Amino acid sequence: MRIRAAVLHEPGRPVEIEEVELDPPKSNEVLVRVAAAGVCHSDVRYADGDLGPGHCPMVMGHEGAGVVESVGESVTHVAPGDHVAFCFVPACRACRYCLAGKPNLCEIVAEHGARGMLMDGTSRLRLLDGTTLQHGLRTACFAERTVIAAGGAVPIPAELPLWQAALLGCGVVTGIGAVRNVARVQPGDSVAVFGCGGVGLQVIAGARLAGADPIIAVDRVPEKLELARVQGATHAVNAAGEDRPVSAIRRLTEGGVDYAFEVIGRPETIRLAWGAIRPGGTTVVVGLVPEGVEATVPAIEFLSDKSLRGTYYGSGDPAAEIPGLAALALAGDLDLAGVVTHVDGLDGVEAALDRLRRGEGARTVLLVDAELAGRPLS
Ligand code: APR
Ligand code: ZN
Repeated sequence: MRIRAAVLHEPGRPVEIEEVELDPPKSNEVLVRVAAAGVCHSDVRYADGDLGPGHCPMVMGHEGAGVVESVGESVTHVAPGDHVAFCFVPACRACRYCLAGKPNLCEIVAEHGARGMLMDGTSRLRLLDGTTLQHGLRTACFAERTVIAAGGAVPIPAELPLWQAALLGCGVVTGIGAVRNVARVQPGDSVAVFGCGGVGLQVIAGARLAGADPIIAVDRVPEKLELARVQGATHAVNAAGEDRPVSAIRRLTEGGVDYAFEVIGRPETIRLAWGAIRPGGTTVVVGLVPEGVEATVPAIEFLSDKSLRGTYYGSGDPAAEIPGLAALALAGDLDLAGVVTHVDGLDGVEAALDRLRRGEGARTVLLVDAELAGRPLS
């Protein structure tokens, strides 16, 4: 079928909204009508070519939600009409990582997904001239419809508006997972969060849910610090102002926080997040740093029991966690609407990427089908 989709033809060139061909789902795949999709800083990384060569042409978009239209053979966990959030790591459940309880690192996803292919190593997407298109992060949801691996379609309650559910599959699972699965923050632990964009705000929400205190938000945009407070930050430090963020954090916590989260993806801020932790503390790097960029820390400080940790996609079982996160949102314990600073149609992808480049606003949600998404476009 023909669908409208956001195609990245070449890094550095604006994303084009155009018609492309989408093949029907094969065995173990699902066709979803996309309602809404969030625009994340990782999309900027792809669009700007920061993740190395070989990702184009690609239909972009990895965070979104929609309604199942049809299912391929042997799909039983969802049926047409079901509301789903996308999970961009549809774990195979059989490789050594999956069997070891690390489905976020699934080898099959890593092998085919890195080339923009689905779990059988092929694509369902083509340009009108027949050129094969990559599926952005296995999801390709900046499009009217998408075919994804069955494991990437996670059923969610129909009561949760799809424009909010759209955020679950990247920002929410990544941010809250970093708090719960990586740092394992306990009540009373002190936390600092560097970068309060769409993902960082979810780290703050996760820290609040875990009972952390204080929760110190660091950003260079005052508007972000306001949003951070709404999500549960107890203190805000403007990194662009007179304040030196690390001294401010050390002052507030008598020597450093238990956990610092870097949610920007820059070596300078990784260094700051390292400096902000106390002896025995842990810095968790959530931000995606461009390929080829190195980060350094004064290595003598490893002697004070400090740890530097990476994380990918919340480091848990994202597909298994998304329904619980949806339930938290429905219960009012997770404010998804509060991080959405802009909505636009599918045509608004490039403007949303530009806002992220400028550091303006938090999440833009593209209302690919506003009625289905449950929110008017204006
Ligand atoms: N100091 C403090 N804050 C900064 C700095 C800096 N030097 N540089 C950027 N920021 C802030 C921006 O103002 C913004 O609020 O970091 C935030 C980044 O947020 P977004 O651009 O909205 O990015 P987001 O989608 O949240 O992703 C954050 O996580 O998953 C990864 O790839 C993603 O690396 C990205 C990171
Ligand atoms: Zn993302």
